[in-house]
Amino acid sequence: MELFLCNRKQKNFNCRIPTAAILQIIMEHLPLIPNLENHPTPYYMYDMGLLEKTLKQAAEASGRYGYHMHYAMKANHQKEILTAVNQHGLGVDCVSGYEVQAALDLGFDPSEIVFAGVGKTDAEIRLALQNDIFCFNCESVEELQVISAIAEMEKMTARVALRVNPGVDAGTHHHITTGLTENKFGIQLPHLQKALQICAENIHLHFMGLHFHIGSQITSNEPFINLVHRVNWIWDHYNINDYGPCMLNLGGGLGVDYENPLLNPMPDFAAFFAMISSNLNIPDHISIHFEPGRSLVAQCGSLITRVLYVKEGLHKQFIIADAGMTEIMRPALYGARHRIDNLSRSTGQVKTYDVVGPACESSDVFASDLRLSSTHRGDLLAIRSCGAYVQSMTLNYNLRPAAEPVFYYPSFNRLKSLFEGIPEPFMQKAV
Ligand SMILES: Cc1ncc(COP(=O)(O)O)c(C=O)c1O
Repeated sequence: MELFLCNRKQKNFNCRIPTAAILQIIMEHLPLIPNLENHPTPYYMYDMGLLEKTLKQAAEASGRYGYHMHYAMKANHQKEILTAVNQHGLGVDCVSGYEVQAALDLGFDPSEIVFAGVGKTDAEIRLALQNDIFCFNCESVEELQVISAIAEMEKMTARVALRVNPGVDAGTHHHITTGLTENKFGIQLPHLQKALQICAENIHLHFMGLHFHIGSQITSNEPFINLVHRVNWIWDHYNINDYGPCMLNLGGGLGVDYENPLLNPMPDFAAFFAMISSNLNIPDHISIHFEPGRSLVAQCGSLITRVLYVKEGLHKQFIIADAGMTEIMRPALYGARHRIDNLSRSTGQVKTYDVVGPACESSDVFASDLRLSSTHRGDLLAIRSCGAYVQSMTLNYNLRPAAEPVFYYPSFNRLKSLFEGIPEPFMQKAV
């Protein structure tokens, strides 16, 4: 059963003639365009109103079951986004010491910070320990031994959850699947008993519970139901209760609609948590945690780019934009497809284009055979669903400088940008 609007078929990706409903949404944003024109491109634009709504809905839906959420900071670590997340009472999930430090600097309560990752350095472990974070999500027996040795040196006790690789297929792109036995993540089931034993025997380790994360951009129920049933089985089969656990962390992974982001700006959080609750069967006193990233922030961001050239090929017409794989790596990395709108002209004659970036790589392609209103040099394009794993993954390749973010706060009807004060020459438009 497909609960979360599935983008795997991608059947509508190549048609960008706006429907009436989409046109209306684009029109609502038109008053912004004079402001958008003023910024040097490319840049990331964040709709902070949509972010607020999404965080509110997710927090309400999880709160109904007493579930805890730790936002996966890797999706987007912009200060404004993290501040909104903090204000909605979510914790954070970090995957490096730098992320742990950023969370602390922004005022997240250490008791709301979890720390995962297969390659934590000694310095990162020490930093997290000294700051008394909620829990390490420990990914191997080897790491467990290092954490315990460092905790002993520091004369402390480390709170650890064991990240288990459950062998559950997330049914998503193979580069964002993490819960299969061939993946590097988590402790394999044959090693779980040993890890539990180490926790039980070591006074510098405090066993908190189990952690799972099977992958990202999961758009149907089935992988989550399989995960939860597997968790029920593992809890029982490995007698987890005997080790005194207090928590279970089910990770992130909930997908978003990349095909129709304007019509479906957020996933059905209520249905998601209801599904988890009705399938999970572990003792009531265990607190349940999640680490959503993409589902919270993907749809609030667009990458705004200007058309540099419309180039005639032999068999194709290329739109060459001033944003490329350096600003949005997902198409080159995973073959991901994002909706693209021409903000400068949404009506008129429709043509077929390949939309590409300027980087010296053949994989720097956003769309092939895209049907888009007739496009010209200087037009502004919006590449949608760029709030997650886009700005946080930027590259410096070809010595391109980082594109800046612009934050749109509808409640104040104002754009907050980092460009304020940038000298005139950098603000030029295409001629
Ligand atoms: C351990 C862990 N938790 C949470 C997430 C967030 O996943 P998503 O953005 O799909 O919700 C990730 C992302 O890969 C992850 O590796």
